[in-house]
Amino acid sequence: MSKTNHESNKDSGTRAYLAKSPAELENILAIELEKLGATNIEILKRAVSFEGDQKLMYKANYHCRTALRVLMPLCQFIFKDENDFYDQIKEINWEQYLEASQTLSIDSTIGSSIFTHSHYVSQRAKDAIADRFRERYGIRPSVDLENPDLRINIHIYRDTVNVSLDSSGASLHKRGYHTVNAEAPLSEVLAAGMIMLSGWHGECNFIDWMCGSGTLLIEAAMIAMNLPAGQFREEYGFMKWPDFSEKLWLEVKQEALENQRDLEVEIIGSDVSQKNLRAAESNVRNAYLHKDIKLKVADFRDIRPPQGAGILISNPPYGERIRVDDLHDMYKEMGNALKRNFEGYKAWLISSDFHAIKLVGLKPMSKKILWNGQLECRFVGFDLYHGSKKDRFDPPSV
Ligand SMILES: C[S@@+](CC[C@H](N)C(=O)[O-])C[C@H]1O[C@@H](n2cnc3c(N)ncnc32)[C@H](O)[C@@H]1O
Repeated sequence: MSKTNHESNKDSGTRAYLAKSPAELENILAIELEKLGATNIEILKRAVSFEGDQKLMYKANYHCRTALRVLMPLCQFIFKDENDFYDQIKEINWEQYLEASQTLSIDSTIGSSIFTHSHYVSQRAKDAIADRFRERYGIRPSVDLENPDLRINIHIYRDTVNVSLDSSGASLHKRGYHTVNAEAPLSEVLAAGMIMLSGWHGECNFIDWMCGSGTLLIEAAMIAMNLPAGQFREEYGFMKWPDFSEKLWLEVKQEALENQRDLEVEIIGSDVSQKNLRAAESNVRNAYLHKDIKLKVADFRDIRPPQGAGILISNPPYGERIRVDDLHDMYKEMGNALKRNFEGYKAWLISSDFHAIKLVGLKPMSKKILWNGQLECRFVGFDLYHGSKKDRFDPPSV
């Protein structure tokens, strides 16, 4: 068995990590990690590998808006068959990470003909770990899928197994503020990724005229105020690790606190549905942003933005629940409303209905592929600039 990352580099305390991201947001995540001080950053498929010390791993979990989880690879090995897999998992020094009285859960992903069911891989790995503990100590850790003390991640590709510990615990899209859902809410990670792809960091007013449960508005406010992604989240996997340093964690939080800034622009959300707007109000309140984000019930056709430069980012319906004819009319009217009322603004819309996006009838300045769950989407930017250059918001290209 190769113990590639089993021990950290004792001198510097650095070791390798792997942050998972949604497809197409890997570059943004790499930029986030670089800003935090990560080294040896490599962009992979739906993941970014990097190196750093323990504090950097805490920071990656706390700050990265486009990370889904941060894994700490333990080892990699080649296996011949199911029994060999079991034996090699059993060989790992699990006592270093877990006590027999604690709980574990195992997530597996497979791309191999040796195993065909990821659930079965998790089961065999759990047996191997339990047998190791039972043989040595007479007791074994039990499984807790909801809130385990240790989350283990197993990735199998062909005959190669990568075993990692999940330092995040629950997925990092669970920010802690989103307790009330409206219909079809965006993942917080995707919402943050959209805003970061647009290049907006809080330089001008921000509007979402179909805000649903308020995800884009809250993520925008957090970006503008430099609030860490995990500001409202209480738990991370690494907090239950034997080497957890409360002191280091408090340092990470204190540094984040010192870097927060006031909101200097307007963040405005609206939605035609009173019920959805109520969900937005609850979530905004959970994030203590009710004094910063303005909300109202309104049809998008009636929205008049504040004067000057600004950005609109929105996630309109894609047509799962409404008739396509009506939906297509709606996209045409969105184009008309943007032209008529949003002079000086940039506007970005995400949709899985590529035809509908064309019906907006404006020439895109930028078009990016994104995935909303299983739905392939286009995230399309329009420049509604007609006025003087001084009012213009020209973000750096990402
Ligand atoms: C896909 S959902 C947005 C979800 C949101 N991004 C979130 O994270 O919760 C689309 C929203 O558009 C709203 N909507 C539909 N037609 C509208 C209209 N004519 N004017 C304003 N909002 C509208 C719906 O009420 C719904 O909340």
